[in-house]
Amino acid sequence: MNKSMNSLGIILPLVLSLANAAIAAENIEQRREGAMKTAQSFMQQLGNTMKSSMKSGGPEAAIKVCSEQAPAIAGEISRNKGWKVTRVGTRVRNPMLGMPDAWEQQVLAEFQSRLNSGEALQQMSFAEVVTEPNGKYFRFMKAIGIKPQCLTCHGSDSDIPQAVHAVLRMRYPNDEATGYKVGDLRGAVSIKQAIKSM
Ligand code: HEC
Repeated sequence: MNKSMNSLGIILPLVLSLANAAIAAENIEQRREGAMKTAQSFMQQLGNTMKSSMKSGGPEAAIKVCSEQAPAIAGEISRNKGWKVTRVGTRVRNPMLGMPDAWEQQVLAEFQSRLNSGEALQQMSFAEVVTEPNGKYFRFMKAIGIKPQCLTCHGSDSDIPQAVHAVLRMRYPNDEATGYKVGDLRGAVSIKQAIKSM
């Protein structure tokens, strides 16, 4: 009697903690899938808006898509989901919004070396649970690559029309987000969710 009570006393907590670990792992997988879907639909929305405004107003009008629509759409998703959804760059045009934090810089460097070793950018992502002074967070990044239509505003001098150059120079005196080529890593969609302790 005593003996079985003892082993139950050891086994039960063990079983419970294994079950908890399984639930936590599943939770992360679910979060990863949700974050991936959100990042994809954000990029798709942005791409569509960019295309239509390039068509209707040309690159000078489309600048507004990257500068106003992108943060507006990201902000709306953030408010709806209760997450932080942003875009960060490997080189940054707007330091206020596009500057990666320490964790994001590390992941971008990791993405760059994955790209160098031949992995495709399309599905490249990374997810991790991190502990910060005020709690745990689920963090996720999905790589953004440079497509031909990005060169008008992020390519080299010969890709960027004179009028666009003038607007960029005026609005972004500290612009570093040029000189990219098709297929380069441009940055990432970054998602951060607070994990409430159970
Ligand atoms: C018509 C001009 C234009 C085009 C085309 C364009 N961008 Fe941008 N991009 C901008 C501007 C302007 C900003 C600065 C946004 C801001 O003020 O926050 C920016 C910012 C960004 C940022 C945020 C980081 C940073 O540097 O501030 C990313 C990421 C980005 N662009 C990716 C892309 C990608 C990928 C494409 C192609 C699919 C693209 N852009 C096409 C003008 C453009």
